[in-house]
Amino acid sequence: MDLGIKDKNVLIVGASKGIGRGIAVAFAEEGAIVTTIARSKELLVNLHEEISVINNQNNKYYVSDLMNDDANMLAKKILEERGTFDIVIHNVGGSLVSRNALGTLEEWHYAWKFNAGIAIDMNNILIPPMLEKEWGRVVHISSISAKMLRGNPLYASSKEFLNAYVTTVGRELASKGIVMTAVMPGAVAFPGSYWDNYTQTDPARCEDFLKHHQAAGRFGTVKEVADVVLFMASEQASFMQTALIPVDGANM
Ligand SMILES: NC(=O)c1ccc[n+]([C@@H]2O[C@H](COP(=O)([O-])OP(=O)(O)OC[C@H]3O[C@@H](n4cnc5c(N)ncnc54)[C@H](OP(=O)(O)O)[C@@H]3O)[C@@H](O)[C@H]2O)c1
Repeated sequence: MDLGIKDKNVLIVGASKGIGRGIAVAFAEEGAIVTTIARSKELLVNLHEEISVINNQNNKYYVSDLMNDDANMLAKKILEERGTFDIVIHNVGGSLVSRNALGTLEEWHYAWKFNAGIAIDMNNILIPPMLEKEWGRVVHISSISAKMLRGNPLYASSKEFLNAYVTTVGRELASKGIVMTAVMPGAVAFPGSYWDNYTQTDPARCEDFLKHHQAAGRFGTVKEVADVVLFMASEQASFMQTALIPVDGANM
């Protein structure tokens, strides 16, 4: 299937490792022009070299800590330098925030900003030019935790807020050529990931988790998530406005 992604201008926020890195490589393999953001310059340079061999395009990376830098200003700068994006993937986020349900508002705000706020701040700059072109795909990496509402309350609530944002804002954009969506991975393992480390430090609990919470009985792979993201960013996703897609091995 031709996804129509070749030569599309793509921004991947949080791309240096894990799922975000896999998404960046997947877009390069489709021939897109890839712009990436993350904190680690070393990892971004490594990724840049790898994808530039694959797609032979004018790729670029930006080093930024989006929890401390002004994400809105960075979006303006990148837009000026790279032009209107066709596709934006928001991947920054994670459960490595406070687990304290009765924690401070600062702790809750941190979790919200990490998992939703950065994306919202950047979308407010990146989407208006897409509207002028009447074509755009904005895919958010949420989590199946948002649907199941289990585990870390700060993380699950923040991802559920992100899903609500995608549903409500996505409806506003739906008739204007913009397809805003979210992909909700279950537990995905890759070298150096939370689950990879957990498998080594506590194999019995990991086995128990897989048996009782992922019906597929295994962790997902980065490629299994990246392939779905590619589809959600494609021309073929033209009637999928506000879709929240689980990629979770049947979480239960
Ligand atoms: N892995 C899973 O099992 C799983 C399951 C469900 C949902 N998810 C979601 O999938 C997304 C990716 O997860 P992952 O496991 O691949 O996470 P990860 O390995 O921690 O990767 C996160 C990416 O975001 C970047 N990043 C983190 N903090 C940043 C900051 N302050 N400023 C700029 N970039 C930042 C990281 O790069 P630097 O460190 O270089 O900044 C990295 O490229 C997250 O939103 C997560 O909630 C993951």
